[in-house]
Amino acid sequence: MSIFTAAVHAGRPEGGDPSIPSVPGIDLAVSFRAADAATLHTILAGEAPGFSYSRYGSPTNAALEAALCALEGAATARACASGMAAIHVALLLTGLEAGDTLLVAQESYGATFALADTVLRRLGVRPIFVDATDQAALGAALAEHQPRALIVEPISNPLLHLCDVEATARLCHEHGAQLIVDATFATPYLLRPLAQGADIVLHSLTKYIGGHDDVLGGVVLASERYAADLRSLTILTGGLLDPHAAYLALRGLRTLPLRMREHCSNAAEVAAWLTAQPGIAAVHYPGLPAHPQHDLARRMLPVGFGGMVAFDLAAGNEAAVLRFLDALRLVLPVTTLGGVASQILYPAMSSHRALPPDHRRALGIGDGLVRLSAGIEDLSDIKADLAGALAAAS
Ligand SMILES: Cc1ncc(COP(=O)(O)O)c(C=O)c1O
Repeated sequence: MSIFTAAVHAGRPEGGDPSIPSVPGIDLAVSFRAADAATLHTILAGEAPGFSYSRYGSPTNAALEAALCALEGAATARACASGMAAIHVALLLTGLEAGDTLLVAQESYGATFALADTVLRRLGVRPIFVDATDQAALGAALAEHQPRALIVEPISNPLLHLCDVEATARLCHEHGAQLIVDATFATPYLLRPLAQGADIVLHSLTKYIGGHDDVLGGVVLASERYAADLRSLTILTGGLLDPHAAYLALRGLRTLPLRMREHCSNAAEVAAWLTAQPGIAAVHYPGLPAHPQHDLARRMLPVGFGGMVAFDLAAGNEAAVLRFLDALRLVLPVTTLGGVASQILYPAMSSHRALPPDHRRALGIGDGLVRLSAGIEDLSDIKADLAGALAAAS
């Protein structure tokens, strides 16, 4: 089934007596009775479908999880309270324990980097940060450190470097490591990491899947062999998504493919246009032929190159970036991405604030770099706003 059709129909209620609702309700029940005690027993054990206590699962969340499984090609999913909660669950799902090594892509989202470098390190896990765009470096790190797992973002934040999921999964499995893919930027519209060999996939639902800046959430998806552990981990860590948020995330998901088509098309047009604008030193977009991994982008992302564009202001300093942000009238200067409105972020000030400046600059995240999430507005309005702000900043 096309993802356009699956997004509209997956997770739709099938039962009901005598009428079947077209959309799931926001089911706020914390506890659920069963026909008899023996049935409740099997439900609590996870051996029969049904609900018992909402930290174990609930109907609105189940509808969202079923839809996400259909889009992602996963056997099991659990919706979590945020993308970061999903990252915690995904890491624990690998069996990570004190004494283990965890490989982390060095260009990961700042909070993922910080989680590994602080909390996990304190708990006795050894994080090693690797260049996930370099298969030779990855192979060497896997062979040397024999990690429990590797966590990567196939489209990195904010420089939009690519990690080849299929090749990386193969390498991980050769060395007995599990591959976790944070596919928040890609969404199932652009990439299905499980089909390419990844073991565990996660998304921040807050971004493209929710899509409207009104819901915070995350999801962990995997094959059947992880189902029992994923269920028990989320029960024990207790960070499931609230049913109100699950309803909103599912409502957002219904239009994900439509929105992604527009995000990708606007981002590609804006990226090409930016390369010819005065005051721009560099444009980072996998769809540009000059992108260092453009060939991989064409292979790995055949449907579109994503809705994110990063660019360096030629002035290359904070004062110019702040003037640029303040001059925008349409594009929202906010600390998020993936919404219907175009959004812009200054990594040095927000997403990558936690990194020491020298380390940040060494990664290529300079003082003049901004990250645009192309919205679904009319392209000419986005360009006009950016042009006005570039003029004000120069
Ligand atoms: C790639 C990526 N993963 C995870 C997260 C965390 O998501 P949340 O803010 O929903 O916890 C973010 C947030 O920006 C992100 O960009």
